[in-house]
Amino acid sequence: MNEFINDKPIGVFDSGIGGLTVVKRFLSTLPNENIIYFGDTARVPYGSKSNSTVIEYSLQDARFLINKKVKAIVVACNTASSVAIEELRKTFDVPIIGMIGAGSKSAIRHTKNKRVGVIGTNATISNKAYSKRLKYLDPAIEVFEKACPLFVPLAEEGWTHHEATYKIAEEYLAELREKEIDTLVLGCTHYPILSEVIQEVIGAGVKLIDSGIASAEVVKEELKKNGLLSDNKSKGYSEFYVSDIPTKFKEIAELFLGKPVKDVHKVELETLSF
Ligand code: DGL
Repeated sequence: MNEFINDKPIGVFDSGIGGLTVVKRFLSTLPNENIIYFGDTARVPYGSKSNSTVIEYSLQDARFLINKKVKAIVVACNTASSVAIEELRKTFDVPIIGMIGAGSKSAIRHTKNKRVGVIGTNATISNKAYSKRLKYLDPAIEVFEKACPLFVPLAEEGWTHHEATYKIAEEYLAELREKEIDTLVLGCTHYPILSEVIQEVIGAGVKLIDSGIASAEVVKEELKKNGLLSDNKSKGYSEFYVSDIPTKFKEIAELFLGKPVKDVHKVELETLSF
């Protein structure tokens, strides 16, 4: 019976295509696993929406993956991880792995002076998801958070080294620079795309934490613990589903994933509601 479950894919969802940065990490950490990705491109962004809307959409996204018979769900979207993880765990009985725990644990491992910065969308920062988890893991940690909403469109525009990106990063990160943090959590799917600019502006001495990398390790451990790791000896397949195919979709998706994106299917929004 386990053999059968092990063959099932891992479901990954995000508010859009940003979660492909997380899939990219999975392809190297869990190369034999099959992945089904759902990006809610018709309703992105989640980061500026209310908690109740993000919860409703996240339940629908997860239901779509459950219907595809996934063995576990990864919530690649930091906003959905911040707001909806408890509802998701209450509703579905497969392991559900979010970004917050993984990113926080990794930050705790790296910080030496216990001064940690977190950047994310307005929703992630205002819900204090990372700071609550970091303080839960180590009450002595001091957390400094900053919402950086403009990083999302800059990453989607592919402005990875644009002058405007440097200017905006200077503006957003100035106050964190003064806090003498030694670790900065990139608490949003899109931020790893801008990591070179962020590193330059925040300073070489600050360790950047990519929650996607951290979560790939957590997923591996979680699957192992539950006896769900694939026995597949060959490379797994990836299938991509989106609720809209925006202009420039392929270009942006390939920038995020770092390789060609094939097998993209459109899902009608009406079929998501239940
Ligand atoms: N995926 C979102 C996150 O990681 C960023 C884009 C959005 O606001 O939906 O928070």
